[in-house]
Amino acid sequence: MGKTFAVIGDPIDHSMSPAIHSAAFRQLGMDCSYIAYRIPKDGLEDGLAGLRKIGIAGFNVTVPHKIRIMRYLGRMDEACSIAGAANVVVNNEGILKGYNTDMDGFMEPLRRRGINFAEISVLLLGAGGAARAIAAALAREGTSKMTVANRTVNRGADLAGFASGLGAESDSASLTEAGESADSYDLIINATSAGLGGDSDSPMSMKNVRNGAIAYDIVYAPMHTDFLKRAAGAGASVIFGYEMLLEQAALAFEIWHGIKAPRKAMQKALLGGF
Ligand code: ATR
Repeated sequence: MGKTFAVIGDPIDHSMSPAIHSAAFRQLGMDCSYIAYRIPKDGLEDGLAGLRKIGIAGFNVTVPHKIRIMRYLGRMDEACSIAGAANVVVNNEGILKGYNTDMDGFMEPLRRRGINFAEISVLLLGAGGAARAIAAALAREGTSKMTVANRTVNRGADLAGFASGLGAESDSASLTEAGESADSYDLIINATSAGLGGDSDSPMSMKNVRNGAIAYDIVYAPMHTDFLKRAAGAGASVIFGYEMLLEQAALAFEIWHGIKAPRKAMQKALLGGF
């Protein structure tokens, strides 16, 4: 019998991961299946027992379990320990090994654009788990000048301290201050959950964004968030959240199956989901 994979989280009905991974299996004629498995916030231990019972080969982890899953891992990769969160797990005869493909998944669209991180100034919006992993990834890539802007300013200051500790010299600002000085940044990243589901406006004013800057939203649904629409309106080039989603899925595929992921087929399934 083929191997079974899953994505765990809550809510999980709207996850695009089953469609993305199933498309890859079809493309390569693999006898594997991928299911969405709802595990509520307080049910992680029981949920994992259930997954072990069916002999799950591996699974993706999403909100709200990315940090909590860490205590159930027997082993983890370096990205996982830097980010303090895991989004990919391999089940090796009951021993769970965690990986974090969000960091490389986030970086890939930027690497593809040939950015020299040591020379650019970065504005990072947000200070939650996603922003923390991104700050760590940017520091690892050699970012030397960053501002963290967050609605709750002291959380932003904490994250700026964390990034500085990793070598990415960072200060913090309010979202209003960030909007006012937006013209001094080459790369602006929305790592807040504002815009998710299309129900809120850009977390900061985009009218001062420089022509030619890059705006990157990690929110992927809707594809055209208010943040990206306003950035494009100001002359910035945009990176869509789905680009990160696709790459983290492809990297998860490569960890589980040890072969190159069919990114084109996966992208087609992903874009078909919009
Ligand atoms: P995640 O782990 O996905 O990053 P999180 O830890 O809940 O989720 O963080 C959500 C981030 O989005 C936080 O930076 C939050 O700001 P606060 O620290 O002030 O809570 C930010 N955020 C959520 N909704 C927002 C909104 N409408 N406007 C601006 N920032 C928002």
